[in-house]
Amino acid sequence: MTPLEQAATAALHAPSVFNTQPWSWRIDGDTMELHADASRRLDATDRDGRLLALSCGAALHHALTKLAALGWSFEVSRLPDPAQPSLLARVHLGSPVPPTSVRLAEAIPQRRTDRRPFGARTVSDEELTKLRLLVEASGAYLHVVPRDEITALAISAELAGHAELNDPEYREELRQWTHRPAGSGDGIPAATAVEPGLRRVPVRDYVPDEQAGLTVGAAHDEGASFVILFGRGDTPIQLLQAGEALSALLLQATADGLATAPLSDAIEVEWPRVLVRGLLADLGEPYLAVRLGYTADTTPLPPRPRRTAADVIVSS
Ligand SMILES: Cc1cc2nc3c(=O)[nH]c(=O)nc-3n(C[C@H](O)[C@H](O)[C@H](O)COP(=O)(O)O)c2cc1C
Repeated sequence: MTPLEQAATAALHAPSVFNTQPWSWRIDGDTMELHADASRRLDATDRDGRLLALSCGAALHHALTKLAALGWSFEVSRLPDPAQPSLLARVHLGSPVPPTSVRLAEAIPQRRTDRRPFGARTVSDEELTKLRLLVEASGAYLHVVPRDEITALAISAELAGHAELNDPEYREELRQWTHRPAGSGDGIPAATAVEPGLRRVPVRDYVPDEQAGLTVGAAHDEGASFVILFGRGDTPIQLLQAGEALSALLLQATADGLATAPLSDAIEVEWPRVLVRGLLADLGEPYLAVRLGYTADTTPLPPRPRRTAADVIVSS
């Protein structure tokens, strides 16, 4: 495999909303293009494609992290052609250089979304500061939700969850992406969803009509931290970079031994999003929240599906 193929293959592990993996790569010689796949946009949940853009940004950051760890320099142009809005990035491979980002690249296959409650161990201020600075260096901002504001985030997620589950279009979309045809390599199997329970901030109920595979157990996210990724606005380039920052945050947290779980439902519905924006003192546009902490249940998570390199990479 060429370095660009290895990079695009590593990006198969990137997180994406509903595990839609809404991207494809075109590799031609020493150039690789990242394209958004609009056919995988969630029309009810993500009408404006914000979560799709964040997911693609995460895939881009995974690929660039892998290239750096393989010891290659590269140049990236984001949204290089206004006539082709679905062309999100063009990456030119440079020359061999000393490897960097090796720990982050090692975290790529280890990172998982863990929907189970985290335990009592708290995340240190040093770790949270490190993650905030990393996100800022990646082109977005991170708000660490103070303990007395977690209730507002919880109410926002609760309101959004109710509104969505009462929306027949959302219910149908949820059903489709939790019941994928065999071999599709995408979507959220019930085995990786968590049963509803008493949580500091509710976690999306992916399978409201059946039993989720993960149980809540005795932990309640006592020590969990909640952070909100945000930025100045939600133009395509800002969302793409926010997705890159999300990936940087999740990979660094994983490398540091933290469990992570993105939460976007509070941002998907208008009024809860206004409440979350209020937590940012109206300083910016919230993109999504992330729960960080230490697992109380160390049982390995069940596998989650992924498409194959042949599904997403076109080489010429
Ligand atoms: C933009 C975005 C939004 C997400 N929103 C949620 C969410 O609201 N709730 C949740 O449990 N997981 C959420 N996730 C995590 C995805 O469901 C997860 O990445 C996907 O199912 C693949 O699983 P993995 O992260 O374990 O590889 C989100 C991920 C992304 C990138």
